[in-house]
Amino acid sequence: MTVGIIGAMEEEITNILEDMNVLTTKNALGLDFYLGKLNDSAHNIVLVRSGIGKVNAALCVQVLIDLFAVDAVINVGVAGAIDKRVKIGDIIISTDAVHHDFDTTALGDEPGVISRMESSVFRADDALISAAERAVEAIGFPVHKGRIASGDQFVSDPEQKDRIGRLFAPLCCEMEGAAIAHACYLNMVPFVIIRAISDNAEEGSNVNYERFFRESAVIAGRIIKTMLAQM
Ligand code: ADE
Repeated sequence: MTVGIIGAMEEEITNILEDMNVLTTKNALGLDFYLGKLNDSAHNIVLVRSGIGKVNAALCVQVLIDLFAVDAVINVGVAGAIDKRVKIGDIIISTDAVHHDFDTTALGDEPGVISRMESSVFRADDALISAAERAVEAIGFPVHKGRIASGDQFVSDPEQKDRIGRLFAPLCCEMEGAAIAHACYLNMVPFVIIRAISDNAEEGSNVNYERFFRESAVIAGRIIKTMLAQM
């Protein structure tokens, strides 16, 4: 199996890249796609830093599928906590993903609903979810399984956090997951999102983010490596 791994930022992929035996690097969209194997994993890996935000992430998925024929996509990175039970350093495994900033409510749609699409809630793959759960269990980090909400915004305002929580009931928010999920859904490719919490997505979250995001990114990377070794 060939597995595509996407992180938005350098810090979210370096920890994985360090353990990769890179056979070749290809460039597309001005991005480096690292093709090779990960220690202890039988699978072929294509690792890429997509850049931040939903458009960058979706385009990256399409390249992974069209040029590198990946069979599955894993998104790795950090996120801000929305659910009260979720703390900095916790791991989130997606069950589904939604766009919290998709808004045609003025036309009568519900928030987050992409009108004229069959679904606006993109379900992660059960087998990948189970593999991620086994990996987190093996390492022993606190873990939550549930919805991830994505938007092209860094959430640091209590009102915005509250709105996202009320309307979508996600565990956390970030800026790529739903776009990756959406692109995978259209291509009928399985995906899972694995995120480590770097901040509380409220006042001061930028400070916490700066403090914790490197550490959280390393934790999320560790999960991916363990997961692939067990798959
Ligand atoms: N990624 C990590 N923290 C985030 C936040 N608070 N908002 C959006 N994306 C994030």
